[in-house]
Parts: sequence; C-alpha cells; structure tokens
Amino acid sequence: MLTLIPFLVTSLPFGREASMPFKQGSQTAAAQSANIVRLEDLDLSGIQQDWGSPEKDKSVGGKPLSVGGTHFQFGLGTHATSRFLITLNQDAASFSAQAGVDDEANSTASVKFQVIVDGHIVARSPAMKMGMPPWPFYVGLRGAKYLELRVLNGGPGIDYDHADWLNPIVTALPGKSSSITAYVPPPEPIPVLANNFLPQVQIHGPRVYGCSAGKPFLYRIPCSGDRPVQYAAKGLPQGLKIDPQTGIISGEVKHRGNYKVTLLAKNSLGSSHRTFLIKADGMLALTPPMGWNSWNVWAGDVDQSKVEAAADELRKTGLANFGYQFVNIDDTWEAPQRNPKGRVEPNQKFPSMKDLAAYVHSLGLKIGLYSSPGPKTCAGFTGSYQHEKQDADQYARWGFDYLKYDWCSYGGIDPHPDLAGYQKPYRLMSKFLKQSKRDIIFSLCQYGMGDVWNWGKSVGGNLWRCTGDINDSWGSMSANAFGASKWAKGAGPGGWNDPDMLVVGKLGWGGKPRPTKLTPNEQVTHISMWSLLAAPLILGCDLTQIDPWTLRLLTNPEVIDVDQDSLGKPAVRVEKNGDTEIWARPLYDGGWAVGLVNRGGFPQKVTCQFDIIHVTGKHVVRNLWLRKNIGTFANKITELVPRHGTVLLKILR
Ligand code: GLA
Repeated sequence: MLTLIPFLVTSLPFGREASMPFKQGSQTAAAQSANIVRLEDLDLSGIQQDWGSPEKDKSVGGKPLSVGGTHFQFGLGTHATSRFLITLNQDAASFSAQAGVDDEANSTASVKFQVIVDGHIVARSPAMKMGMPPWPFYVGLRGAKYLELRVLNGGPGIDYDHADWLNPIVTALPGKSSSITAYVPPPEPIPVLANNFLPQVQIHGPRVYGCSAGKPFLYRIPCSGDRPVQYAAKGLPQGLKIDPQTGIISGEVKHRGNYKVTLLAKNSLGSSHRTFLIKADGMLALTPPMGWNSWNVWAGDVDQSKVEAAADELRKTGLANFGYQFVNIDDTWEAPQRNPKGRVEPNQKFPSMKDLAAYVHSLGLKIGLYSSPGPKTCAGFTGSYQHEKQDADQYARWGFDYLKYDWCSYGGIDPHPDLAGYQKPYRLMSKFLKQSKRDIIFSLCQYGMGDVWNWGKSVGGNLWRCTGDINDSWGSMSANAFGASKWAKGAGPGGWNDPDMLVVGKLGWGGKPRPTKLTPNEQVTHISMWSLLAAPLILGCDLTQIDPWTLRLLTNPEVIDVDQDSLGKPAVRVEKNGDTEIWARPLYDGGWAVGLVNRGGFPQKVTCQFDIIHVTGKHVVRNLWLRKNIGTFANKITELVPRHGTVLLKILR
C-alpha cells in the first residue's frame, strides 16, 4: 500500500550536507545514510527529454546548478519536457528534492514539476519561472513500484525550459538501496511496415484536383510498379494532354468546369486505373499539398544544386510515384537588395530561379519559394513589404507554384494587430497571387496567431501553420499533433491546418544532416497523425540519404490515401484515457480512419469502442501500416500499442 506523507518544508534536507542529517560516526547515521540513493548518481541514459542531455550536478547548459540565486552542488539538470523513471521494487521509504528553473534560462522559461508514483501524480509544483525559489517535494514511497520525475512545459513553448532537480534523493528501506535503479527502456523493436514498392502497376494520389482555367496545368500521375509504364487519361478537358511515357499531364484547361477523368496505367504485369476529378474553378489544394521543403534539413545552407538534387531524388527514390510533387525553397534565397526597378532577386546561391523552375517542371514536379509580408524574412533576408504585387508577378514569371509567407518582421509594421490586422497582409498577397498568371498555392506561416484555423481560408490561404516551429523531439512533434482537435472545423478542401513540416529521415537545420531523434515508433505516430489530421505532407530531410525504412514510412499509399481523402475532414480526438488517445476521421468511401495512440512510456492496450465514432455492428478492420485486413470485429477492437506509438486502422464500411 502506498503511503503519502504530507510535505513539511522545515523538515526537508536541502544542501548536500544538510541532506545527510546524521552525525558522522554514530551507528544510526551510518546505517541511515547507507539507505540514501542520490538519483543523479543513477544511470541517466533512460531519461527522455526534449532538448539537450541530462546532466549530473550541472544544468542542461553545462553550468553549476543554480536556482533562485542559490547554488546547489548536487542534482540533475534537465529540460522540459522530461521523464525520469526509477524502479523502486517496493523497497523505498520516501523521496525528497527541490526543483526549479535554472538561473541560466531566461524570462520565457516556464516549467511544471510532477512526482508520479505508480502512475498517479502525487505531488506537483505550480508553473515555475526563472528567479523563483526552488519548490520542495517530499513523498512517501512505501509499497511503491515506480517513481517518475516529470518536467512539463509550463508556458507557451519549451524554449529555455532549463529545469533542475536539486538533491533528488530516494531513501530506501534498510539494506535495500541497491534495488533502487533507473529504468532504462530496452531497445524497442522497429515497427514492421509494409513494402510499398511492388512490381504491379498501381496509380496513387488524390482523387480530386483543383486548378484555374486559362493558367498552366501540370500533374504527374503518381504511379508505382515496374517500369516501363504506359499511361493514358480518358475524359481530359480541352486544353490538356498526357505524355504516355511519363504520365505527365500538361497544358491549360480551356473552360471552367468539373471534369471526370479516368487515369490509366499499364506495365508488363497488369493495369491500374483511378478516377480523377479535375475541378477547374480556381480553388487549389483540394487535398493537402505533398512535397519537400529545404528548411528542416538545410536552413541557410540551401542552394540551387541542393534544390535540383531534391527534385531528382523525388523521382529516383520513387517518392513522386506516391504523390510527393512540390519542391520548396525556404528562407535565404533572396538577394539583400532589390534591382533598380524594385524587383526581388535571388542571391548568389541561386544563379537562375527561372532555369531552376523549368528544370523542376521538366520532371513533372512543381516548385515553391518563401517570403515574408514584412520588410525582412525570419532569417533577415529581403521580404515583400510594399512590393507584394511586384513579387507575386515575379514568382509567376519565374514559374513558381507555391508561396510560403512568414509573418516575422511584419511584427514591426503592426506590433499589436487585432483580427483584421492579422489578416491584412495575407489578404493582400492572396489577391496578387490570384491575379498572377499562374496557380500559386498560398501557405500562411504565422504560428496560429489570432486562431488562424478559423479564418485562414477566408483570406485566401490554402494551408496555415497552427504552431511554432517543429523540431525532431517527441515533445515538439507530439505537442503539434495532439493540440489539433480545436483546429479541425476550419479545414477542408482548399484549406488545411499545418502542424509544420515532417521531421523524419536525415535533417538538422544546416550543416551535416543527422538522423532524426524521433524513435521509429514516434515516427510512425508522426506520419499517422499528420495523415489523420489531413496535414500537408512536406518532407524536411536530405532525400539523397533516405533509408529503406523511412521510405516505407513515407510511401504507404493507404496511409497517404487517409491524408489525401477527398472528404477532407481532419480527425479529432474522440477519446482520451490517461496516456492513450483515439483519433478518428470519416473517409469518402464510408470507412473510418482510426489512430490508437499511446503517449505513455510503456506499451499499453487501447480499445476503440465503435460507438464512439457512431459505427455499429460487425466490420472488417484493416491495419494500414501492415496493409492487411486483421479480421472482422463486432463493436470494438483492442490493440497493444508500443510506447509513443500508433496503430493506424481503417474500419471498412
Ligand atoms: C520560421 C518558419 C520556419 C522557416 C524559418 C525561415 O521560423 O516557421 O518554418 O521558414 O522561419 O527563416
């Protein structure tokens, strides 16, 4: 039985000396101090944290521990969000510590500390800020099996959340200190993913596609299978033609309207067809955009040859055969000065934007770039302020198909915007993009300010960032994913919530790309959630170094079909039970995509009762990552879900 001893500040052992409140030499003191287990002395390799590494007797920044102006010799420096799990084996008497934000942080830091015993929160601090005195903890542990020390984000984001556990001590029962150990999770089996590179020919991609009549049209039919493949398209509108060898459809739709097209492909092993509704009424992005962007891998190191290489690799790796089509240049392409006519120009990293666009188009792919409504971009390059029309026309002249438009220095133009103020620069640019000679997808990047998910579409956005910048940690990725229920209503064909670009594969924001820090199960959750949420699937890795497992993760056509579903209804959370959640979305064919998610630290069973999504009776259920029907289930299904993992199911109609 677990006993919780009420906390008494005055009785707490604080400094290291103070934490050994026994006279040296006395029998009792020796015996009792032998029972003290200092948690910073345990194996720290099992600690999960979302920035940096856990540090013994130092802050996460590597400095001496200091909280509220007081130095501490002993403790553990970590960073929100973090989890430290300790196995007690019912051999512990109590836990004591203090905790606070390290003085090396800054005023944006805010964290909450929690002590969890056998899955129950038994003590917690309020939101702690830098400069506050440490928060004391004392918890009885008799009978307990596990102790978990958790640090949560206490404010807007985890930036500077440098968090210290000071003198964290477990007092063991007499003679039992060796049974108090850090839990180090065993290496997780890598989730099995179906092979998507089958020799049989199969057409993939959206079933509905938007464009404007009278503007250039380009669509490369995504199709897997052994080459050569012969393509055809029945019912193409006047003005479009298909290249039977490459499957690239191009031209200009002559007249506004809806056109039911059937795409056809055949190879030596058979044939495949897919319906494809072309809606030539000016609405773009009827399904979420898919492609690649330079930022998460190259940041400021992007240049023209890297963008060309990305386009080549979309084709060579086969990613384009599953629907990835945009190749987007992010920030740092712009020259510092406009030309004498006021036109924006690329800097020396991009010798010719026009040639680059033409090259990407020659592969049947599309190209995007980046700017800001302010005078400067986020990285301090030339923005579009007061040159919006000129820039929109220039992008079209070069042949661009996509613009990401990032708020940043616009904060200096309108420091305290009301709703109309948030919308103004996006309305303006959208107007000029629409007036330009090309169809240009408009991606709003302003981190969700003013609840952009409620109005992004009404100002001409085709997608809008709802969050701060993602990084390849569980904390960052999962915070972006699991905050998404409240955004669901405003998204649908033509406009999508954007929880930011993907962080799988080799990446690193400049320098030499390194593997993502997400575990394989976390990566499965990442792609499952983005597909459930109808999020844009924009790769952020070095495509020249993509490994076979990551390729499987990114090319599963059944998972991509969930993302690209023509109904366009993003999933919402339909159930939360402790660390497990169920997210579900209805699909155009009457089926349901359901994600069973485990955000906890251990594998757990998750049960989906069909009635929570208003489904009754018996249904065939398909595991989408395995691409296998797993049986017929009446009223519910239960699956074991790995730590931080997701089982993605389709409940067939
Ligand atoms: C912001 C955006 C990123 C990236 C950078 C470029 O931080 O959120 O996605 O575009 O700007 O400077």
